[in-house]
Amino acid sequence: MEQRRILVAVTGGIAAYKIPELIRILRRAGACVRCAMTPAAQEFVSPLVLQTLTGHPVRTDLFDASQEGEIDHISLADWAELVILAPATANTLAKMSCGLADDLVSAVLLATRAPVLVAPAMNVNMWEHPATRSNMETLRQRGIRAIGPEVGELACGWEGAGRMSQPEAIAAEAGLLLGSRDLAGEVVLVSAGGTREPIDRVRFLGNRSSGKMGFAVAAEAALRGADVVLVAGPTPLATPAGVRRVDVQTALEMRDALLAEFERATITVMAAAVADFRAARPSELKIKKEDLAADSGLTLELTRNPDILAELCARKGDRLVIGFAAESHDLMASAQRKIARKGCDLLVANNISSETSGFDTDDNAVVFVWPDGQVEELPTLPKRDVAAQLLDRVAKARGGDE
Ligand code: C5P
Repeated sequence: MEQRRILVAVTGGIAAYKIPELIRILRRAGACVRCAMTPAAQEFVSPLVLQTLTGHPVRTDLFDASQEGEIDHISLADWAELVILAPATANTLAKMSCGLADDLVSAVLLATRAPVLVAPAMNVNMWEHPATRSNMETLRQRGIRAIGPEVGELACGWEGAGRMSQPEAIAAEAGLLLGSRDLAGEVVLVSAGGTREPIDRVRFLGNRSSGKMGFAVAAEAALRGADVVLVAGPTPLATPAGVRRVDVQTALEMRDALLAEFERATITVMAAAVADFRAARPSELKIKKEDLAADSGLTLELTRNPDILAELCARKGDRLVIGFAAESHDLMASAQRKIARKGCDLLVANNISSETSGFDTDDNAVVFVWPDGQVEELPTLPKRDVAAQLLDRVAKARGGDE
């Protein structure tokens, strides 16, 4: 952490009393630390304590001219290489998820482009409230890292999840986040989600892909310093922080969007479940059953969609291109054939026959298949961890090329 710039943003929870200890650990590790506090945080720990420990004036007010003169809130947001929000109250997490900026801490959180680590701490019922759950999910999708809360006895008298993680654990997580800028300088192009192929004005052919895997890759790549473009099929997922998103509907639109970005990309990850077929002649109007004979079915003629991955691989030069392969049976044999046929540098094969991994789930069980026949099987992991493992391999491969 030597000379790394960390902003510790403190909000109003009793766990704020542990922040001096967090600052001492970060400083001992060599980090330059500055602090920002909400008004409520100052009820629990004095700005003077944090100023003494950091060696810098502590920012508490968005509208104080003398504080803005010292370092204005945008400069503070830009200064930070990492922001630690600890303790993170339900209120500030909610503001973050909505993009509100009505005090110094929330304004800095909205303005910063640095990775953000949050250490929630609150009453167990507040933590388990659907509003907090959904805010946390939104933040996670945007690439915000969370540590804790831990389960135990809470200051309010309740037992359960809500205790802020220990300062040592927060500092260790901060160290990991600062350490992993191994994709800085790379342009990562990711496709995610399924496609919708219109049959008529209201109906389409789709698939069960949620987009979660591709979004996790995009979020992780951005956190590791890459310039990330995410080409996404229809999905309600929030755009990860620092990622440029291009929305598409059909396989042909996805192809156009990817081709437009591909030249610039140094790494392309095709996590999208692209429809292999589309309706040959989609109807401009809604197809009405009344227009068909009473007992007749409807025959739909399908035509093949281009294989985008194979097309990108054909023009890849020294770019890295990674494909995904969702298989319900014969996983390894199909994956080996597929990597040879498509010509990509790595194929991530996943078994979609299980209900707990694969399509529309939070976890994935994948096997990395390399062109030389090597395979690496990973245990079932959260998609974010699968993304991290994949990007570890990618960063290594890129490093090896240089
Ligand atoms: O051939 P299959 O669909 O199993 O291959 C999966 C891989 O190929 C994924 O990376 C997917 O994004 C990509 N793909 C594609 N264009 C298609 C179908 C799949 O790029 N038409």
